[in-house]
Amino acid sequence: MSAVRRVTLIRGDGIGPEITEAVVRIFEAARVPIEWEEAYAGLACYQEHGTPLPQATIDSILRNGVALKGPTTTPVGEGFKSVNVTIRKALDLFANVRPAKSLPGIVTRYGNVDLIVVRENIEDTYGGIEHVQTPDVVQTLRIITRQGSALVHRYAFEMARRLGRRRVTCVHKANIHKYADGLFLESFREVARDYPDIVADDIIVDNACMQLVVRPETFDVLVLPNLFGDIVSDLCAGLVGGLGVAPGGNIGRYHAVFEAVHGSAPDIAGKGVANPTALLLSALQMLDHMGLSSYARCIEQALHATLKAGVLTRDLGGSATTRAFTDAIIARLDTSHCADSSDGSSRASVILVEPPPPQPSQQWQCIGADVFVEWNDTTTVPAMPEQVGPLTLTMISNRGTKIYPPPIPPITMVNWYRCRYIASGPIENSAVVALLEELIRRSIRWMHVELLAECNGTPMFSKAQGE
Ligand code: NAI
Repeated sequence: MSAVRRVTLIRGDGIGPEITEAVVRIFEAARVPIEWEEAYAGLACYQEHGTPLPQATIDSILRNGVALKGPTTTPVGEGFKSVNVTIRKALDLFANVRPAKSLPGIVTRYGNVDLIVVRENIEDTYGGIEHVQTPDVVQTLRIITRQGSALVHRYAFEMARRLGRRRVTCVHKANIHKYADGLFLESFREVARDYPDIVADDIIVDNACMQLVVRPETFDVLVLPNLFGDIVSDLCAGLVGGLGVAPGGNIGRYHAVFEAVHGSAPDIAGKGVANPTALLLSALQMLDHMGLSSYARCIEQALHATLKAGVLTRDLGGSATTRAFTDAIIARLDTSHCADSSDGSSRASVILVEPPPPQPSQQWQCIGADVFVEWNDTTTVPAMPEQVGPLTLTMISNRGTKIYPPPIPPITMVNWYRCRYIASGPIENSAVVALLEELIRRSIRWMHVELLAECNGTPMFSKAQGE
């Protein structure tokens, strides 16, 4: 007799209640040893409780360790933070795991796709650190860390080993983003050394997209930074039949939230035609995570048999309603081989990965600063002081291209200039403060400063195009 495990259930908005009900019914019919604890999130929750994500919902996931979540609507406009992003950050769900596997009975261009996308889930441009620097120029900071990278890489290798996968491929853009993607790739190579049984290779993201649509069957496990992972995982969903069949799991060290890749589909909400397959596959991923794999395989077989028999929802070219499709799966369930192979804990197969310790910067020396200024005559170079104390103006760039020292190349310039000041040796921060004071004295508006450091002669910053 299995111990009954409690799992948080968030039904969500739009088609959420319809598809979560389908999963609840299938689980009940398969006698999965799970007890649902209902919690609320999303737009309807906001309208009813004044918040899209009550603390009680976070507490429920913290308590249970595992949640199944229907899609939630994020209205476009101010003041409404995406529930998904908030949950990921609040619970430190650092890996987004999206399998893309060809399903029987679903006609696509490819018949044999079986890959898993592991997307870093916290960092990159998703830190949401944005600044309007001038009325014409906006900046988003792309943050990649050694710790965040190592966590997702180690998870990808551990997961690959557990699932008997043979290859993990790091997808990046280190040829252009030498520092950010460079760190992601360096961390991948470091972690890969601990997994000699698994082939570790890497590919540039644009080439990966091309290869994925030409030869998707050659990929196994892919690990990517957040933004590339967001895009590439949707591409992979398209390889196997689209959003209606794309599952996902958000995994942290201690908690996991499983949800379909798709949204709340307001265009078909309440019509009874939504495809519950993506959420069902996410729920099966959850069962695997909890060590209830025999239940997952039994439901998977019934799903495959249903699809093979041509019972398809409208998005896949069929005419079955959500209810009829769910009934067809239930009718094909054979639970005689289901057994609980876990240790009885909801966190049965949490893969414990630890981030590496911080590396201090005490070897670093400050040798200058990049000062970003507004200058509205965009046909000329800003009248910056050439020397302030130990700091010499060595370069000015506009949108990344060097415009000083001359000549000015024939580029479209905007009212946002990066002015690079370098000293001949290490300097104190007070030298940079003196530079900023001089700019204030000259009424030159600066809005952003980056200190430039060197470590044993190696610069810790990139050069401008043409520098
Ligand atoms: P969407 O994924 O909801 O819909 C895109 C298209 O796919 C629509 O035509 C829809 O009818 C169809 N579709 C999606 N899931 C389907 C299913 N299970 N069965 C049949 N057809 C399906 O994306 P959209 O319209 O951009 O977003 C709607 C709302 O969902 C937005 O508020 C968005 O912020 C939110 N959203 C929530 C997510 C989540 O909670 N995980 C993820 C993505 C979007």
